[in-house]
Amino acid sequence: QQLDMELAQIEKGGYDHFMLKEIFEQPDSLTDCLRGRLEPEAGILTLAGVEQNLSAFAQAKRIVIIACGTSWHAGLVAEYMIETLCRIPVEVEYASEFRYRNPVIGVGDVIIAISQSGETADTLVAIEKAKEQGAFIFGVVNAVGSSISRISHAGAYTHAGPEIGVASTKAFTGQLTVLAMMAMKIGKEKGTITAATYQHLIKELGQIPEKVKNTLAAHLKVKEVADKYADARDFLFLGRGYNFPVALEGALKLKEISYIHAEGYPAAEMKHGPIALVDENLPVLFVATKDAYYEKIVSNIQEIKARKGKVIAIVTEGDDLIKGMADDIIEVPETDELLAPLVSVLPTQLLSYYIGVARGLDVDKPRNLAKSVTVE
Ligand code: G6P
Repeated sequence: QQLDMELAQIEKGGYDHFMLKEIFEQPDSLTDCLRGRLEPEAGILTLAGVEQNLSAFAQAKRIVIIACGTSWHAGLVAEYMIETLCRIPVEVEYASEFRYRNPVIGVGDVIIAISQSGETADTLVAIEKAKEQGAFIFGVVNAVGSSISRISHAGAYTHAGPEIGVASTKAFTGQLTVLAMMAMKIGKEKGTITAATYQHLIKELGQIPEKVKNTLAAHLKVKEVADKYADARDFLFLGRGYNFPVALEGALKLKEISYIHAEGYPAAEMKHGPIALVDENLPVLFVATKDAYYEKIVSNIQEIKARKGKVIAIVTEGDDLIKGMADDIIEVPETDELLAPLVSVLPTQLLSYYIGVARGLDVDKPRNLAKSVTVE
């Protein structure tokens, strides 16, 4: 037993938990994901799985994304990316709902299945169904050789390496990276983005691992915020645009790791319900980096402050306006809004981790959850 414990320590590479190790691995896992694909200096992006099937993507009448859990949130970000860059209509489906409906799917439809494990039963069966009906299936998978990667017609691995912590962290950012590259490639092929935009995104994406590293270097600030709110009973996460799925993912992570009741919402929807919950005891986390929705989210923050809610805001470096309004701010580096989730999600991962630890919980193996759900 002594030996087992020592082995586990070695596997954690000096970190207290796998979750923390995996959060801190992200600069490297994203570098691995980009290796051989992105050459920012030369302005080149290659993604074999997409290139070999460019016509299927370019001619797609629509794209249906199928996934569960955190992978489903990556799908929501991809919806914004693909609609913006490729002008193809996208639907994002929970695999469990999709498989039991009688979904309208056929030739000319492209299915993107997103899965860390590649073994999630609902996702697997959903794509089997779509495949029978003639759709083209593209897998965005982490586990090499897994069932979903084998059943797909083509795919792109996220190359995040093994993820042990039950809550997904580095696999999520790997998924976002692959999905961004896909949208860029397809958009270029279709002519729905200019060469300048394509080159701009290549440069920005090339800087992401470094920006992720810088964001994580400020982890002690997040710990400070976590210690302050560790006793909260409820939490609200709000975001707009590309950061709306980040709000959902932040809330999911907090529920999983800390057992605090948390809800994620598009910030503008709060007035249709969640605002009724706001009082001086409710922490509201805004994912509010500088993007096209910035002014809108600033007024949402004012609405929460007017009702005495506690505001924690994830903002772009140097944002003095929100700093003057929020109770706590966590800064992240500036990047293109399409790639913002790659940095804005990091503080939410750290926040859940530190709150879970402060509450004395088993963050690597939260109660009732499984890493890979291979049964219904
Ligand atoms: C489980 C895991 C989650 C994961 C989800 C989907 O619920 O605990 O972390 O996001 O399954 O898994 P997949 O392997 O298909 O991405």
